[in-house]
Amino acid sequence: MNNRAPKTPDPRPDALSLTSLASPTDGPQAGDVLCQLGDIEDGKAKTFTFKKGTWRFEVFIQRQGEAFFAYENTCPHVGLPLNLNPTRFLDIKGEAIFCINHAAYFNIADGLCTKGPCRGKWLTPIALELIDGQIIVA
Ligand code: FES
Repeated sequence: MNNRAPKTPDPRPDALSLTSLASPTDGPQAGDVLCQLGDIEDGKAKTFTFKKGTWRFEVFIQRQGEAFFAYENTCPHVGLPLNLNPTRFLDIKGEAIFCINHAAYFNIADGLCTKGPCRGKWLTPIALELIDGQIIVA
């Protein structure tokens, strides 16, 4: 008899690779250094915009101590950017990612919307790695 509970699939979206966004010659490449973790003030964020013609894709990296969390800067509610300030994505308490458009709150660590019009939806995580203090395209 098998007493193990069935494994529930992880509902989080797969991390998006920046290398899938553009052609091999004009987009971020695996191994490219986006910045140093130390370039981002603790509790703040840094945004990166990738453009080609009219196409535009923005990513933000939120630093929390020695960890970071990276997401596409697009709210799952109606697809608007989450922020007004390029370094500030958190709510007033610094406890959640906050969408300024219609007041949605997201977990910093996994991007799940816990309060607001898109509750239960997720921010799109970006595949980045931290190696020797550098944040690198995975
Ligand atoms: S666009 Fe983010 S809550 Fe509406």
